[in-house]
Amino acid sequence: MCGIVGYIGFQEASDFLIAGLQRLEYRGYDSAGIATFDEDAAVRVAKTVGRVKSLETMIRDGQTPGKTGIGHTRWATHGAPSVENSHPHFGGDAKSPDVAVVHNGVIENHHALRSMLEAEGCVFSSQTDTETIAHLLSRNLKKMYAKYGRVSPGEMTVYQYAPLIEVLHNTLSSLQGTYGLAIMFRDFPEILCGARLGSPLTLGVGDGENFIASDPSPFVGYANRIVTLADHEIAILSRNDFRVIHRDQGQINPTVKELAVAENGVDLGGFPHYMLKEIFEQPESLRNTLRGRLDYDAATAHFGVLRQITPQQLRQIDRILLTGCGTSWHAALVGEYQMEAFARIPVEVEYASELRYRNPPIDANSLLFAITQSGETADTLAALREMKRKGILSLSICNIVGSTIAQASDGGIYLHAGPEVGVASTKAFTSQCLALGLLALYFGRIRHISFEAGLRIIKAFDELPDKAEQTLAVNSRIREIAEKYADSHDFLFLGRQYNFPTALEGALKLKEISYIHAEGYPAAEMKHGPIALVDKNMPSVFIVPRDAVYDKVLSNIQEIKARGGPVIAVVESGDKTIESLADDIIEIPHTDDFLQPIIASIPLQLLAYHIAIFRGCDVDRPRNLAKSVTVE
Ligand code: G6P
Repeated sequence: MCGIVGYIGFQEASDFLIAGLQRLEYRGYDSAGIATFDEDAAVRVAKTVGRVKSLETMIRDGQTPGKTGIGHTRWATHGAPSVENSHPHFGGDAKSPDVAVVHNGVIENHHALRSMLEAEGCVFSSQTDTETIAHLLSRNLKKMYAKYGRVSPGEMTVYQYAPLIEVLHNTLSSLQGTYGLAIMFRDFPEILCGARLGSPLTLGVGDGENFIASDPSPFVGYANRIVTLADHEIAILSRNDFRVIHRDQGQINPTVKELAVAENGVDLGGFPHYMLKEIFEQPESLRNTLRGRLDYDAATAHFGVLRQITPQQLRQIDRILLTGCGTSWHAALVGEYQMEAFARIPVEVEYASELRYRNPPIDANSLLFAITQSGETADTLAALREMKRKGILSLSICNIVGSTIAQASDGGIYLHAGPEVGVASTKAFTSQCLALGLLALYFGRIRHISFEAGLRIIKAFDELPDKAEQTLAVNSRIREIAEKYADSHDFLFLGRQYNFPTALEGALKLKEISYIHAEGYPAAEMKHGPIALVDKNMPSVFIVPRDAVYDKVLSNIQEIKARGGPVIAVVESGDKTIESLADDIIEIPHTDDFLQPIIASIPLQLLAYHIAIFRGCDVDRPRNLAKSVTVE
């Protein structure tokens, strides 16, 4: 949550800051702000409630000149969205602040720190936890001056900032909680600082300019080399140099990597919204998740991470825990069905927010998979750490390479789905279901699935991306259906077995982006309560492929029709039986049952998208949500 950026170089800082914040808006977008140093090293500020676009308009009139600056796009935690609460926050005298800070994360002991600082005479102008960091830095800076005398700014290199590094370490050691920080000091306009604990922070390395951002996407088009900061590291950046210092290890030589995000990964590519673009990217993202993982010779799936564990150890696994939040939790439910069907291993799916405080019976033969698109979700990270603490092998299934959860886990499986910018997860979900299916095959093959059965499963995986492609042909039909139902106030999504999670995910997509109340249920369970809601104004979306429970779901459809409820049915191509029962039909290609959630989710994503568009909603940035939830 919250996106932060920083720039120091030879160009107008606000150009990168605004462009970078726009790319980070998925992290939060209720208010935004930037601060720069002008030619006289005086701090210039622009802040606004609302989107980065509004900030851009303010900045066009030259409010924030300067070649060094920091910026922030906010998802409110402490204090409502307002100009006062939006970042940057300042430390020291309000008229001439000596510190400016942008922050992502939560400072848990901010009440105690604020009381202490207020008792010392600090005047706060916001309700945020971040402002305590700014005042604390300012206070510790003054202590440094008292100890060492005033350090004059000038042509110093980044290697000569020992006293300032002490100020940073002292300040950070007083903070409990999480932070990704970008900091400017009035007395040191020739440098920019960054710090990280628990919230991601990346440096972009340019020529004559350096950058800071919450993730590397803002660097596309600006810098080709990146450094990912680890917890307890701080960075000092000047125009031509940068230095990384670890709290315990002192100065370190960080690994500088090539930027792996492609230009077309962060642009709209001709689509009106990222969500639609990402829905349409699914044939490709599924291909990328599959790439190199199908082994026809051994009729199984390959995962680099599993090579580190002996087949003997893996055969002894007698319990699998799958955890995640939101859409990733729905993928975990799909994984539960797949894993139990193929591997016959008991699987438990638990919300990460619950797992982190539970004490489930586990032993050395249990295995955890933490499933996360962003790799930054606070609850998923905490659940993973808790399970690691208990001594069980804890792996991650993650989209973002090098993310906090990928690093914290004992090993990871990357989705390779490409950047997902729309707040509602689409292509990451289908890739998560696919990765879990591949794992199920792997575990099945080291246990009891035959070579022939393995080959049949592989073939189904292989055909999946083309089937996803065919499925996208329903787009215009779905648009018509969406128009018909866009004014509904409530929806039911119903499916059984593999498509129970599909129903949950369909309902979540609609809720998230159209603000229509929607519930997902196992189709038969609808009789035990939700059927009381059914009338002519409440559409039910059934996911009803020709599988083992097809006839049962037909009965459920009839039960809804008997009560006057409109039915939209997602069926396999050529299904004439349901055509006569349902009000609207969406046809999808046939696929094996364990892959149905992937194919059947695509029309549900499109339905949510088009309904939201008809209702005039901001599909990529729905109200109150953020893509990466780094608070508990
Ligand atoms: C937020 C997003 C959801 C996402 C969930 C888990 O709520 O809005 O789309 O499913 O976080 O995120 P993760 O990155 O861990 O998959």
